[in-house]
Amino acid sequence: MTPTSSGYGARITGVGRYVPDRIVTNAELEQTLDTTNEWIVERTGIRERRVAAPDETSSTMGARAGLAAIESAQIDPATIDLVIAATCTPDGMFPASATRIQHAVGAGRAGAFDVNAACNGFMSALSTAVQFVAAGTSQRALVVGTETMTRIVDWTDRSTCVLFGDGAGAAIVERAVEGEPGGVGAMLLRSDGSQAGLLWASGPCTPGAPGATNPFGAALAQEAHIVMNGAAVFRSAVNALSETSAEAIAKAGLTIDDIALCVPHQANRRIITAMAERVGLPMERVYVNVDRYGNTSSATIPIALAEAEADGRLKPGDRVLLAAFGGGLSWSAMVLEWAGVRASRAGLEAPRAVARA
Ligand code: UT7
Repeated sequence: MTPTSSGYGARITGVGRYVPDRIVTNAELEQTLDTTNEWIVERTGIRERRVAAPDETSSTMGARAGLAAIESAQIDPATIDLVIAATCTPDGMFPASATRIQHAVGAGRAGAFDVNAACNGFMSALSTAVQFVAAGTSQRALVVGTETMTRIVDWTDRSTCVLFGDGAGAAIVERAVEGEPGGVGAMLLRSDGSQAGLLWASGPCTPGAPGATNPFGAALAQEAHIVMNGAAVFRSAVNALSETSAEAIAKAGLTIDDIALCVPHQANRRIITAMAERVGLPMERVYVNVDRYGNTSSATIPIALAEAEADGRLKPGDRVLLAAFGGGLSWSAMVLEWAGVRASRAGLEAPRAVARA
């Protein structure tokens, strides 16, 4: 999977994460919802989640994760020439949250745009950055997954609101170097728009949404919040994650025994264990932190990568499986060789001072 073998000539050289300070435990949710800590832990594995402060947005959190990734890669942000932000909860309809992040991290020469593939967003953005870098169009890319999911959940709907949380993660993508570890070996992106109604959230341009008025049609009031058929999404997630992971491992010319660590999308611990069982991966080789953050959508995988790196769970040369699933429906898998980062713990220490866009 290095440039000398099959694969893409790009590798991850830095990872970082930022999570808001405010912790909301299941016990706190018991105060306002007809739910229990036992139900949430048993059905999802989630114990607590983070909630963004009123002045925090996907771009401010994304910038802090980005700065942590820059620190972990020990690079000058001025040398970044591409910023891609994955988010389904942007600061606004436009401009792209990526441009605010580009400014805040000091990537003065970078192009910037957003990708929205719901919980599959980071994988879509990372795949895009890998292609830019492998083609030589970019030398150094910052890829961010960042979400304020708690602003689009219906806090009276116990079947969805207990699941989600806020946070951001980021990765630096650079060219792979001959003779050094690190490279992307296989990437698969899949989607099925016929299932869009299983998991979705309306926005200001949805017909009938507040604000979606024009002089020629009457608008019906409609809240902007997540609507989900949990059981159907659960089944699809397990099938899609396991099938695509097996396909990506085979495409990389590897077997499941070669995978040192799987870092899956963190939506529900039961989905992760079912997927691991199907692909034949023992849970000791699967990274799980859904208990602490819930589902942060496109931020789950980069947050988990930053924590796995800082925890010493990722070593240079390790073969790593990433797999994501979310609204769309949309899903993906990627197999890569871990390059290692220059300053491992730096990815957890997001700098406080960030220029406001
Ligand atoms: O990134 C991808 C995004 N989404 C997902 O991955 C979510 C996928 N789906 C899931 O994780 C699970 O389907 C859920 C966690 C959402 C639900 O778990 P489940 O085991 O599929 O439960 P269920 O929907 O079948 O509901 C079972 C019962 C229902 O009560 P009745 O009808 O049996 O009386 C629900 O009303 O659990 C009830 N319930 C709750 N009870 C206490 C639903 N939410 C709660 C709650 N507390 N928070």
